[in-house]
Amino acid sequence: MSPDADGAAGATPLDPDERNGLKHRHITTRGELDQLEQANIAGGLAWLARRRKTDILTEAFMRELHRRLFGDVWRWAGTFRLTEKNIGIDPLDIPVQLRMLLGDARYWAEHRSFAPLEAAARFHHRLVQIHPFPNGNGRHARIAADVYLEECFGHGPVDWTAGYSLQSMNERRAQYIDALRAADAGDFEPLLAFVGL
Ligand SMILES: Nc1ncnc2c1ncn2[C@@H]1O[C@H](COP(=O)(O)OP(=O)(O)O)[C@@H](O)[C@H]1O
Ligand SMILES: [Mg+2]
Repeated sequence: MSPDADGAAGATPLDPDERNGLKHRHITTRGELDQLEQANIAGGLAWLARRRKTDILTEAFMRELHRRLFGDVWRWAGTFRLTEKNIGIDPLDIPVQLRMLLGDARYWAEHRSFAPLEAAARFHHRLVQIHPFPNGNGRHARIAADVYLEECFGHGPVDWTAGYSLQSMNERRAQYIDALRAADAGDFEPLLAFVGL
């Protein structure tokens, strides 16, 4: 299978010019790409753990995190998407909507508007709804929600996978995508159940 064929439902297909951003020309299969991305993400998580703690609720941090997770694989890592996708808002609205979300997330943390896991679930959902990047939004937004939990609430991470992979289709991913769709329609219950509330 070619690396651009995004098999799983609820995933973002790449445009030809985004595919041109692949730093490794020899890649021919989805499996090879997954492995490269996985290695890059592991490096990004190591950076996350050792970095000097700064304010995470900024556009600069959200972009830096994406670049650290995907920048060895994709030239456009850390830059906002310029094209419309099957998921996500108009690309022109990304900077403003992201800034609003980060402001809301800061307010939720300062005022303890929600239980930590609910704040993280709402933050995660809004972030994937905005879909700031050409690809990697699900993985970036799950890690971002975990960083939000830890650094703004002193709370442990969400058990997103519960032993499954969220990158391929299985029961857990189906539940996850259904929960995000319910949240799109204003019903947060399935997503709260999914994160363990
Ligand atoms: N209906 C939806 N509403 C909001 N977010 C969604 C919806 N469907 C899928 N998503 C999110 O988009 C992600 C897929 O986007 P993508 O950029 O391909 O991320 P990744 O490459 O990390 O899987 C899913 O993992 C999920 O987080
Ligand atoms: Mg994807």
